[in-house]
Amino acid sequence: MPSVMVIGASRGIGLELARQYGEAGWQVHATTRSLALPGKLGALAGDVNLYSLDVCSDDDIANLAVALNDTPIDVLIYNAGVIGSRGEGDETTRKETFRINAEAPILVATALLDNVAASDQKKIAVMSSTQGSGRLGGKGGYLYGDSKGLLNAKYRECEPQWRERGIASVALHPGYVRTDMTGMMASLSPKKSVKGIRQVLAALSLADSGRFVDYKGKIVAW
Ligand SMILES: NC(=O)c1ccc[n+]([C@@H]2O[C@H](COP(=O)([O-])OP(=O)(O)OC[C@H]3O[C@@H](n4cnc5c(N)ncnc54)[C@H](OP(=O)(O)O)[C@@H]3O)[C@@H](O)[C@H]2O)c1
Repeated sequence: MPSVMVIGASRGIGLELARQYGEAGWQVHATTRSLALPGKLGALAGDVNLYSLDVCSDDDIANLAVALNDTPIDVLIYNAGVIGSRGEGDETTRKETFRINAEAPILVATALLDNVAASDQKKIAVMSSTQGSGRLGGKGGYLYGDSKGLLNAKYRECEPQWRERGIASVALHPGYVRTDMTGMMASLSPKKSVKGIRQVLAALSLADSGRFVDYKGKIVAW
């Protein structure tokens, strides 16, 4: 049975990823900051294994790798994200937003790289956004977009090394999805977005590793 690790699965797109992979019979590993009160994540059907992770904590990331030991992870999806601020944000917000959206995806992928490399499918997805397009330098005056632009730049730097280890990866735009992040205003449901994401990841191969695609598999501009 293939396995998936969803980083940031307490709600929104991450919760739906854990739900759909679980329903499809996959072994699901999923992280939450609220392990004692996992809410809907704790009630999912299937082989769902929960781990505590605040991606701002280096210790939490190291502990996650220890907890997994040498468990193979077929598909690693870094989904956690925050909207940050409409403008540039204050120093604390900037630091946290860059950490969660741009730095932690690479730190978590690096910590779990051996687990992915030991699996059959060997795939990684980092959740980016079209808001990051044209912002590879990470400096544009709009914190959320800048953080995703920086993620894209960091991802492009790491991807060739991952590919050398036989790991195929993508940066993903999930669409404009009805979650807390969008104030539940968007028309696209998490269900439909995640259905598309699963299809994109199922079709992903080393030949198309390193791309930035949306939930329909359409190429997104860097
Ligand atoms: N919704 C959209 O239209 C849209 C569009 C483009 C890209 N995206 C990206 O898609 C991803 C998921 O978005 P969403 O709409 O599902 O957002 P959401 O509903 O706000 O959920 C965000 C998730 O990230 C987790 N998270 C935040 N900070 C964390 C931290 N420090 N450590 C661990 N987990 C943390 C949250 O956990 P808690 O419950 O503990 O806060 C939650 O599970 C994000 O990366 C987002 O930027 C979303």
